[in-house]
Amino acid sequence: MATSSRLTEKIVNNKTLIYILSQRIQRRRLEDIKKATKKKQINLSDSFSSNVTHVVTESDNMQQVIRWLDLDSDADLHDVEVVTLTWLTDSLKAGKPVTVEAKHRVNQDSEESVDEEHSSSSNEPVVADWACQRVTLLRHHNHQFVDALEILQKYAEMRDVNQDYSRALAFRRASCVLKSLPFTVTSVSQIENIKDMGAHSLRVIQEILNSGVCQEVETIKKDDWFQKMKMFTSVFGVGPSTAKKWIERGWTSVRDAQQSDNISSDWRLIWGLAFHSDLMKPVLATEADVFTCIVREETDRLLPGAIVELTGGFRRKKQSGHDVDILITHPDEGKETGLLKQLLERLERRGLVLCGNLEKSTYTDDVLVRDFKLSMRGQLDHFEKWLGICKFHNSFQHGGGKDSTTAECVNRNASEDRMPCFHASLDDKDDYEPKAKLKKMAAENLTPKHIADSDRGWTARRVDLIICPFSQYWYALVGWTGSKHFNRDLRLYAQRVHNMKLTSHGLYSQAKGKIIAANSEKDVFDNLTIPYREPYERNC
Ligand code: CTP
Ligand code: MN
Ligand code: MN
Repeated sequence: MATSSRLTEKIVNNKTLIYILSQRIQRRRLEDIKKATKKKQINLSDSFSSNVTHVVTESDNMQQVIRWLDLDSDADLHDVEVVTLTWLTDSLKAGKPVTVEAKHRVNQDSEESVDEEHSSSSNEPVVADWACQRVTLLRHHNHQFVDALEILQKYAEMRDVNQDYSRALAFRRASCVLKSLPFTVTSVSQIENIKDMGAHSLRVIQEILNSGVCQEVETIKKDDWFQKMKMFTSVFGVGPSTAKKWIERGWTSVRDAQQSDNISSDWRLIWGLAFHSDLMKPVLATEADVFTCIVREETDRLLPGAIVELTGGFRRKKQSGHDVDILITHPDEGKETGLLKQLLERLERRGLVLCGNLEKSTYTDDVLVRDFKLSMRGQLDHFEKWLGICKFHNSFQHGGGKDSTTAECVNRNASEDRMPCFHASLDDKDDYEPKAKLKKMAAENLTPKHIADSDRGWTARRVDLIICPFSQYWYALVGWTGSKHFNRDLRLYAQRVHNMKLTSHGLYSQAKGKIIAANSEKDVFDNLTIPYREPYERNC
């Protein structure tokens, strides 16, 4: 979004900056075009830089453009428009840069199109071009390489300066290829022609093949800054920028933050620090199942026929995760309105809620149209949701208690639970604001730390509850099932191959000017002409 608005800003401020790729354009013609462009006072750049807004080319193949620009992957383009010469001639006719339309854009390689530089190879591709077309299982054959590339990715994400974001993505793309290979790589020649294998990643793999380790990775692993960043960002509510501030303050452990008075008043951070050791422990699939049962049971009491689905990593068959993601809808659209607040009241009465924040839906019908050219980075959805921390009774780890049903077990845990539940004045909606809750606790001389240090039979667990209208359900289900990279790839595929915008709310076709409906998860894939992949096959 940041890059996208930067682009909009540049254009609005008349800061269009064009870079013309000279390949395939006759020199005479190129000179004429450049002259005409300058005459119309449209800015031309002699080189490709981060200020360029439009790359103009004679190529009709995006991968070729990436190579000509000497980039690792299309992610390096960020939001730069790659357009054909027709856009420039249209602009020259108009006397100013015209809005880029689908007809101006250079197509992403479709599977059938044969690039001249690849046509000599008759080998079947080892993997499909797009991660969303591949089968990627949790268990794979290349952990040694994937682990190394994931460290490089993480490091780049944490640094987050200049080209780091696209570097991180390039490592991610490469490790996704490795995860989907049906064999263990023994020679770089087996993978060097795969589109997503960037030069840097190939060097890393070569080094590991040669000597068992990659020096760059080993150095990062030992790097003090990296270790601290990993430690601090493991706290709920702490992102890379807060972590960097803490390092600058000279803090060396989470304890330093826990003991400091100089902490932001963000509820996530306050609770995240108090319950850090709980939240560090991975959530087990069994616990997630028990909790989902409870949510389903309570939802069903409030709204019979509602659909309650455990999504996220657990739906992809992961055995542990960092949180529990639950998606809720009802086949009679509209009935889901108001459900979340009531559900939370019930969960609170059962002593299951520690803290959290209810976010209202920000969805309007024009969201898909308006956001058509949003950046792939940090794309948030507009659903009503609750992000918070719940109390998982320790018996959840064994399926909710040996001799009792889930419900009985949790009822028992609620009555045994001596922690304040704050259901005295639940009608007052302000009590739901995390700030109000903390204030109320403070009045009783109670802090999150007191609760954390008390004798308790439960573990604090991160929970995401998401409400969606049924007409958006199948898209939401794909979006919330993930993996993150699977979504990113699917969305990029929709944009590049079909010029369509995919989000968790739906699929919008700009050409047709409408949203393409889906009545099943498979419909979502069919609408994108991608083979259906089961959730456990989306672990890229
Ligand atoms: N997601 C989303 N919108 C958000 C947050 C998450 O669409 N505001 C998606 C993510 O892209 C991901 C899925 O929801 O595909 C679950 O997110 P998350 O819990 O962060 O990841 P998991 O894959 O469940 O990993 P983990 O096991 O660590 O929880
Ligand atoms: Mn999750
Ligand atoms: Mn989540």
